[in-house]
Formats: sequence, structure tokens, C-alpha cells
Amino acid sequence: MVKICCIGAGYVGGPTMAVIALKCPDIEVVVVDISEPRIAAWNSDQLPIYEPGLDDVVKQCRGKNLFFSTDVEKHVAEADIVFVSVNTPTKTQGLGAGKAADLTYWESAARTIADVSKSDKIVVEKSTVPVKTAEAIEKILTHNSKGIKFQILSNPEFLAEGTAIEDLFQPDRVLIGGRETPEGQKAIQSLKSVYAHWVPEDRILTTNLWSAELSKLAANAFLAQRISSVNAMSALCEATGADVAEVSYAIGKDSRIGPKFLNASVGFGGSCFQKDILNLVYICECNGLPEVAEYWKQVIKINDHQKSRFVNRVVSSMFNTVSQKKIAILGFAFKKDTGDTRETPAIDVCKGLLGDKAVLSIYDPQVTEDQIQRDLIMKKFDWDHPLHLQPKSPKSSVKQVSIAWDAYEATKGAHGICILTEWEEFKTIDYKKIYDSMQKPAFVFDGRNVVNAEALREIGFIVYSIGKPL
Ligand code: NAD
Ligand code: UGA
Repeated sequence: MVKICCIGAGYVGGPTMAVIALKCPDIEVVVVDISEPRIAAWNSDQLPIYEPGLDDVVKQCRGKNLFFSTDVEKHVAEADIVFVSVNTPTKTQGLGAGKAADLTYWESAARTIADVSKSDKIVVEKSTVPVKTAEAIEKILTHNSKGIKFQILSNPEFLAEGTAIEDLFQPDRVLIGGRETPEGQKAIQSLKSVYAHWVPEDRILTTNLWSAELSKLAANAFLAQRISSVNAMSALCEATGADVAEVSYAIGKDSRIGPKFLNASVGFGGSCFQKDILNLVYICECNGLPEVAEYWKQVIKINDHQKSRFVNRVVSSMFNTVSQKKIAILGFAFKKDTGDTRETPAIDVCKGLLGDKAVLSIYDPQVTEDQIQRDLIMKKFDWDHPLHLQPKSPKSSVKQVSIAWDAYEATKGAHGICILTEWEEFKTIDYKKIYDSMQKPAFVFDGRNVVNAEALREIGFIVYSIGKPL
């Protein structure tokens, strides 16, 4: 039986390995992590991450050919293929701080592999890493020259949160990069045969190592660029009376542009877009390409601009002050169908409103009070550290912030509502009931364009939607 070990039981390691276990009953998969609470949660009924369909997949194979353990050394030593899916945050200090990827966790995982291995292994980069990381990893793996042979493959993950299981079941493509030597090609074939259990052959792409590593950064940069492009247009729509939804639809009909990923929003969030683009910018700078670096930097700048534009709109519409006014925040996660708040635009919007002395009542169906308080206190980039290093409860909390258990409680007595995540329930809640319980004039700032603005205006709300005429 082939044995797979995955180091890192996070948003990528957990779901990816669960799907491999489900689709490959002939393979034993063990997911290991240094975080005891995380592994305990994977072994419980309350999985550490919320992802539609994940519970079902885990239940079907946990204890059969899928295991979660903190015994990193034992399972790495026993494995034929070791995936490394640890976090690769933005550096907060030293050379490249605020841009470069911090490979501390990766390096530590690589050293563990080197130290405990007693047999040849394929080591798979699953984390998103800077191009040329495999070269550095190779040096670490072979540093103690015990005569063990390691083949390094790059197999970046393209799943999106909220649709992770769907994406893993039916990926647009699986990308495997390896050395162009006979050993490298053999390793590629071994990994290919794992995915071939359920992914059609023509969707498994094989390239050299550097193309695979760079393709991941390029894909995220292109995706984020689309959102910044449509968000930039949304500002122009507001200034001219055009409707960004109509513009998106019209341009998306061009088959060369395509209809996906053209929803204007309060800004993109999530653990990777910003981090990976900053990383790309840093790599360009290091390679003497300042113009290329500047080009991609603009994607982040527009995203920041979109968030502050939103805050400015709220404050300026509410007579230039939100001081001591209750504002309901509906949605805190960075997108619907996930409880993940990493780099969610809600953090910057809330901080912006708090800076103007607003009183916030926040409701999100999947995010806990502790998480929200922690996010509002934490420094930029500090979130991407292993969960066990973060305090269980925030030491202090933001006084002007309270957490509500539903949208009705959050909006009661509020002057305004900001919709920051596109949860389905925000489309169907009783806005008449909400209007009746609010201060007047009652404002709605729809950062996701989910409500029917006209219907709300008929109720009496003043409605602001992104990129739409007022
Ligand atoms: P995560 O923070 O959820 O999980 C990483 C896990 O690795 C943590 O549980 C941490 O405790 C563990 N870890 C760190 N160092 C370790 C070590 N030395 N030994 C054992 N465990 C260790 O991160 P994630 O969201 O799963 O992302 C992982 C990687 O995948 C990142 O590089 C990210 O850019 C990339 N990625 C993420 C997504 C996504 O949707 N989240 C999608 C594609 C790619
Ligand atoms: C993204 C990519 O889509 C994945 O392919 C990639 O694997 C992953 O990053 C990663 O490397 O971590 P994810 O961040 O989970 O996935 O979610 P997306 O659906 O891409 O959404 C990212 C952000 O963009 C969200 O805040 C979302 O609301 C926003 N968005 C998305 C828009 O504002 N408009 C859109 O049209 C689409």
C-alpha cells in the first residue's frame, strides 16, 4: 500500500488529503500537524474548518485510510510521498518584510523530513511558494547526505474556499512540476497515478518545476487582477451613472473575456491573493523588473482603495459622521460558505468605521465572537501563524464592537447596515421588519450587491450599491 503523509492540516491539507483518501482506497493517508487542537478537531465531530461537503468526505474515510495525527516524525518516516502544506505567510520582519514569503514553516518541515527519513521519498510542494523554492528545499533535504534520494515536485493547489470539495472532485486542472531527469519524470508519474484515480488524464498537466511554482502565483495574480479591474470600473460607474452589473455582463459575453470573476465588491479578501501578489512583486523586484513589480502592485492598491472608498461612502452619506452611531455589519467572512476571516475586507471596513468612532454590531453565521475580536486587534500579517501560537481568547476586546446572533438583533436601533459578505440569508431576510426597528433615515450599504436595491428603496431605505446609480 502506498503511504502518503501530509504536513499541515489546514484549509488545504485537510480537504485535499480527505479527497485523496476517498478517491484512492488503496492509499493510506495521514495528515500531521504540530497544532494539537487542530488535530483533535479533525478527529472530532466538529472539524476545524467549515467547508460544504467536507464532513461527509471525512466521515467516509477517517479511521479507514485517512488519519490525523500530531506524530509528525513517525508518519513522515513511514511515507512514500510527503506533501508539505504548511502556511507560507508574508514576512513581517527583516529582509523583504511586508512582501516576501516567510518560509520558516516550510524550512522547518523540510528539516524534519531530512532528519527522520530512512527511505527514498517524493516530497511535494503543496503550499504556495516563491518560484525556485524547490532548489532551496533540495539543499535542505540533502544536507545530511544519508544517501537517501528525494525527488521534489511542485503540485500547487487551486481550490477556492467554500467550494473546496467540488473543486477537488472536479479540478479544472492538476498541475505537477518536476525535474526533467529520468528520476524526476518517474516521480511525476507516481504522483500522476494518485490523481488519475479520479481526474481525467487530459486535466493532469506536467511541467518543469519552475513553471509549476510560478503558475500558481500567476493564476492568483490574474484572478485578483480581474476583481481589481471590475472594482476600478465600479468607481467610474458610480461617477457616470453606468451600472457595473450591466458592464460586467456585457464584457463577460465576449468569449475572450468570459463571465466569471467579474463581480464588483467591497474588495477581495482571503488568505492568498494579497500574500501571493506581494510575493510576486518581491520576486520581480529581486529579478530587476521594477516596472513589472509596479504593475502587479497596482492590483493591491486598487483593492485597498475600494475598501477605503466604501468606508468614505458610508461616512459621507451619513452626514459626514458616524460617531456614536450604531452600524450593523452583516457578514464578516471573506466570502460566503466559509468561516474564514483571513484578510477579509470586513476587517479594514470595520477598522475604518471604528476610526470614525462608530459603534458596530456584527453578525456572521459562521464566524465566532472571539475570532472577530482577534481580527480587529491583530496587526497586519500576524494572522498567518499556526493557530496554536495565537491566544485562545483575545486578551482585550474592542469596546465599540458587539457581536449579534442574527441579522435582526444586529440591525435593531442601527442607523446603517453594511453588507460585507454575500451570505444567501442576506438576500431573504425581512427588510421591512429590519427597517421598522432602525433609526431613520435608515441606510443600507451593499458591499456585495446582494440586495434588491429598488425593493429596499420602496420600503424607505437609502441604498448604496457598489458601482450602481444611487
Ligand atoms: P493553514 O494555516 O490553514 O494550515 C497550515 C498548517 O500547517 C497549520 O495548521 C500549521 O499548524 C501547520 N504547520 C506549520 N508548520 C508546521 C510544521 N513544521 N509541521 C507540522 N505542521 C505545521 O494554511 P492553508 O490555508 O491550508 O494554506 C497552506 C498553503 O496552501 C499556503 O501556502 C497557502 O498559500 C496555500 N493555499 C491555500 C489555499 C486556501 O484556500 N487556503 C488554496 C491554495 C493554496
Ligand atoms: C482563491 C482562488 O480562487 C483559488 O483558485 C486559489 O487556490 C486560492 O485563492 C488560494 O490560493 O488560496 P479563495 O481565496 O478561497 O480562492 O476564494 P475566491 O473565490 O477566489 O475569492 C477571493 C476573494 O475575491 C473573496 O473575497 C471574494 O469575495 C472576492 N471576489 C471573488 C470578488 O470580489 N469578486 C468576484 O467576482 C470573485
